[in-house]
Amino acid sequence: MLVDKLIIRGQKRLKGEVTISGAKNAALGVLPAAILSGDVCTIENVPDILDIKILRRIMESLGARFEDIDKNTIRIDTRNVNSYKATTNDMHKLRGSYYLMGALLGRFKKAIVTFPGGCNLGVRPIDQHIKGFEALGAKVEIQHGYIKLTANKLVGASIYLDVVSVGATINIMLAAVRAEGLTIIENAAKEPHIVDIANFLNAMGADIKGAGTDVIRIRGVKELKCNVVHSIIPDQIEAGTFMIAAAATEGDVLVKNVIPKHMESLTAKLMEMNVKVEEFDDSIRIIGRDNLKNVNIKTLPYPGFPTDLQPPAAILLLKAEGISTITEGIFENRFQYIEELRRMGAKIRVEGRMAVIEGGHKLTGAPIKALDLRAGAACVIAGLIAEGETEVFNVHYIDRGYENMVEKFQSLGADIRRISSN
Ligand code: EPZ
Repeated sequence: MLVDKLIIRGQKRLKGEVTISGAKNAALGVLPAAILSGDVCTIENVPDILDIKILRRIMESLGARFEDIDKNTIRIDTRNVNSYKATTNDMHKLRGSYYLMGALLGRFKKAIVTFPGGCNLGVRPIDQHIKGFEALGAKVEIQHGYIKLTANKLVGASIYLDVVSVGATINIMLAAVRAEGLTIIENAAKEPHIVDIANFLNAMGADIKGAGTDVIRIRGVKELKCNVVHSIIPDQIEAGTFMIAAAATEGDVLVKNVIPKHMESLTAKLMEMNVKVEEFDDSIRIIGRDNLKNVNIKTLPYPGFPTDLQPPAAILLLKAEGISTITEGIFENRFQYIEELRRMGAKIRVEGRMAVIEGGHKLTGAPIKALDLRAGAACVIAGLIAEGETEVFNVHYIDRGYENMVEKFQSLGADIRRISSN
């Protein structure tokens, strides 16, 4: 087996321009949504990442056909999707596979799906997804690691989510677009990719109102057709990763193809820390400074500070003077990466859901492991600011969600390379 690692020689200021790819978590919903149409859909700005490759394989096993128009544009033909059983081994490999529940249930009124995998961030229940499917009239059974959904028909219902869940909001939306009558999701998540997936569904003829607010109304329709080319929104988390890396290296970087509104919680924190941020229509320039102020961060559902930027942000706080804190408000166990950072000399202690970060101490390069996708991004940024050489192992986690991360950092002047060995 090939075991790739990254070798980073730190302390180079990032300079130049970087273009952000399409949003992973939007694409992971848009591709299954295409199944609801039973038509041929063209999607642009699809990120070329491992999670999408795996999802494509799973969808192919159901009968979908993919054609690559260019590196980031695909045509999906779901006319011959004839299986409602998504049970290949690939299902364990990503969290986003759970959207096949909503999409297959919506199309076939039944689905058998392997329990979803994904990053280990603590317990990740799917009770809110199940509650939603049941409210729409589906019978849900969990047997031998599979989730079996069956319905004679799906009928719109009012569903109040007990926790604000991105996955449950999207899954219920997928199932409800072809249900009979009106579905109302209350306490819905408001993340930008929910709006993107709703826009894609609406462009196919769905009737969804309120996506991006906490009440979403979906009036079921009989059929969906792919009439337009859909372009996936820019990846908010990739953009944030590069903004943080630019600030942490005291660089000067223009982050292109972003929606500045999606970045507001991060932009506000960076400015509070004394980083210079200039916003343009679809790009943001970050000019790092050496005298960073300590701040407190709490991760929250959108428009709050995203949990996916929590690990990268911790690295930036290591550069601030004094004590900063990060409180993780979404996942119960998202501080495991801190153990790796300690090898580099990071002074961070974890008190329950809070990380207390003592800034102003130099990091020194060390061998470290990416323990999940965003932890991997944090490891890379740590390597970029550390003195000497850092080796980052478990690169496959980074490949899951970042398109050409190494090449993008190289183009900004970072000394980073990837080594493959047996
Ligand atoms: C999505 O995960 C993203 N994944 C995650 O991105 C992201 O961190 C997360 O949303 C929060 O923004 C995908 O889009 C594929 P949730 P998801 O349901 O849907 C609890 C990345 O790095 N909950 O919004 O699993 C849950 O335990 C990944 O790109 C329930 O209790 O997140 C958590 O505490 C990692 N019951 C909170 O809600 C449920 O039925 C929010 O989870 C569902 C969730």
